[in-house]
Amino acid sequence: MTDIKAPGCDDKLIWNTWMSMFNFPALTVAAELGLFSLLHKNPATSDVVAKEFGFELRAAEALLGILTSLGYLIQRDKKFYLTDVSQYYLIPESPYYWGGMLKLMSNFPLHHSVLMEALKKNDANASYSWATTKPNLEMIKMFTSAMHSMTKPAALSAAKLGDFSSVKRLLDVGGGSAAMSTAIAQQHPHIHCTIMELPAVAPQTEEYIAKAGLTDRVNVIHGDFFKDSFPTDYDTFLFSHVLEDWKEEKCLFLLKRCFEALPQGGRIYIHEPILAETKDSPAVSVGFAMCMVWWSEGKVLTISEITQLLQTVGFQDISVTPTHGHICLITACKP
Ligand SMILES: C[S@@+](CC[C@H](N)C(=O)[O-])C[C@H]1O[C@@H](n2cnc3c(N)ncnc32)[C@H](O)[C@@H]1O
Repeated sequence: MTDIKAPGCDDKLIWNTWMSMFNFPALTVAAELGLFSLLHKNPATSDVVAKEFGFELRAAEALLGILTSLGYLIQRDKKFYLTDVSQYYLIPESPYYWGGMLKLMSNFPLHHSVLMEALKKNDANASYSWATTKPNLEMIKMFTSAMHSMTKPAALSAAKLGDFSSVKRLLDVGGGSAAMSTAIAQQHPHIHCTIMELPAVAPQTEEYIAKAGLTDRVNVIHGDFFKDSFPTDYDTFLFSHVLEDWKEEKCLFLLKRCFEALPQGGRIYIHEPILAETKDSPAVSVGFAMCMVWWSEGKVLTISEITQLLQTVGFQDISVTPTHGHICLITACKP
């Protein structure tokens, strides 16, 4: 019999990584059930939650336990209450509701085999099927709502912390739900914003602008940013969560056309998650980098990579403002 000694370190990391597979589905299931709304109105014990959803007690305990250990709930005297993050981001009535992204991701769960295939695929394309094929309105609505829930809180920070003092007319390229443009227009009454979006998405964009009450200062033009020329009557271009979708040569193509369309002294703003130069942190950007491998043909960029892209097409005076967690607003000027 071989005498195997105890290992030199424990296997907690593997257990934790394995168990983390339940975290995100627990969140999406709770959101779909309306658990956060229920607890918002009436903090409840696990047996009340079990009764409400027709669950066995052990199932309610497991769900409430995971959500509490993650920080979405807090337990006092056996009752579960929402934490601040849940009150801000997980109640459908909140302007910061993340429901759009939770719904999109629950419709496209990530399996081992999907990730394996995505990693091996060297000719990935960004999945904007509505740019080329018959638009699937339901998918467009779901995706735009997902992006809105992700971008809106960050957009409010970017609009507040970014220097927009010299901006008068801003073109928001691929502006989706207008989350950035409406936040900027609200914070800076001197700015007019225009969103350039695909014709299939533009009616959605218009609805979001109307809901924000900003139709007088935010409008939409139909256009394919790879095929249609950029208008030349804007002093500023914004790319929010756009470069991360595309291969380097396409990013350069977009930036070059933006540079050519801007007047002398015009500005570009890039709003994206940023990866450390070592590409192994922060954890959320590393995760998002994998998400881009799965979902798009692009990647999360480092500041050096963004600087290199901007300088290659001629931009100067590059500055970086961290605005929201791992997200930065990078700006540069056409000399
Ligand atoms: C990741 S989303 C970003 C949306 C928004 N900028 C934000 O920060 O939330 C990318 C957007 O680019 C738009 N898009 C994709 N391909 C496009 C194209 N060829 N021309 C114009 N817009 C495009 C999509 O419809 C989508 O709204």
